[in-house]
Amino acid sequence: MTGDSAAGSTPNSISIQSAVKIYGSGADQHVALNGVDVTIERGQFVSIIGPSGCGKSTLLRMIAGLEEPDAGDVSVFGVTPERACVAKMIGLVPQTPALLPWLNVLKNVSMPAKINSAADRRRQRIDGHLQKAKPDMRDLLTKAGLGDAFNKLPAQLSGGMQQRTAIVRAFGVQPDVLLMDEPFSALDEFTREAIQGQLLDIWDEQNTTVVFVTHSVSEAVRLSDKVLVMSARPGRITAEVDITLPRPRSEAMLKTADFHHFEDIIRDHLQTSWQQNALPSVA
Ligand SMILES: Nc1ncnc2c1ncn2[C@@H]1O[C@H](COP(=O)(O)OP(=O)(O)OP(=O)(O)O)[C@@H](O)[C@H]1O
Ligand SMILES: [Mg+2]
Repeated sequence: MTGDSAAGSTPNSISIQSAVKIYGSGADQHVALNGVDVTIERGQFVSIIGPSGCGKSTLLRMIAGLEEPDAGDVSVFGVTPERACVAKMIGLVPQTPALLPWLNVLKNVSMPAKINSAADRRRQRIDGHLQKAKPDMRDLLTKAGLGDAFNKLPAQLSGGMQQRTAIVRAFGVQPDVLLMDEPFSALDEFTREAIQGQLLDIWDEQNTTVVFVTHSVSEAVRLSDKVLVMSARPGRITAEVDITLPRPRSEAMLKTADFHHFEDIIRDHLQTSWQQNALPSVA
């Protein structure tokens, strides 16, 4: 898709319609995604969970404009992913933080906004684009628990601090949508829970749309307005679960019966998906 506008989308939603992604050809052909339909409203926090290889990263890359669907439509707030990408409407937080090793924390998080003035102009020309005041990077770093690390180099930070720096950097350019692919998978459980809280605080303040891939049921429940459960072979959405727990969601909430109720619902859907995809046992 190359036009300016995109099918199926409004300025207020990300829309994926009947998306198919096929890798390889002939005997090596592999249907990674088949018939994926998703609508994500502006401002929502949506998680994607499913077995390894079911196509979560592929779906994220399609929204980011890094992969084209072989059939179907993907649109991001009324425009094609390619146009949204050029206008820097899309931010991506990968599994590893990829900071610039020669710049301190404050310079790492401030640099993208400095080099993106052309993208700012492109964004302003897109209907429905919300113009926001530039965030104070020192303030965002402090909210992420990095108030005393402005002048440290990446090599002087723990893995959790590096990941928080990458999150602040991504929020700093104020993307309309932030795509996060298992950003906390390398962290221990308690660090992870603390960073989840900081991510929620920043998301709440910035009102960004977030699409978040995770393998953790409790992480998906705590963070999300909606959890999309996927099954593999071929990858498709098998359930959409609205998480109606009140916000803010503190670490204490993780122990409540209401929280466990939502975890159980997601676990049941995952188990069904997993059973559908389980390899036949060898006699
Ligand atoms: N560039 C590619 N070329 C060929 N096959 C690919 C490519 N990228 C992904 N695949 C295949 O598509 C399927 C989905 O991959 P994807 O990385 O999206 O899965 P995932 O759900 O993110 O898995 P994980 O949880 O392990 O990260 C897998 O079977 C994978 O082997
Ligand atoms: Mg993946």
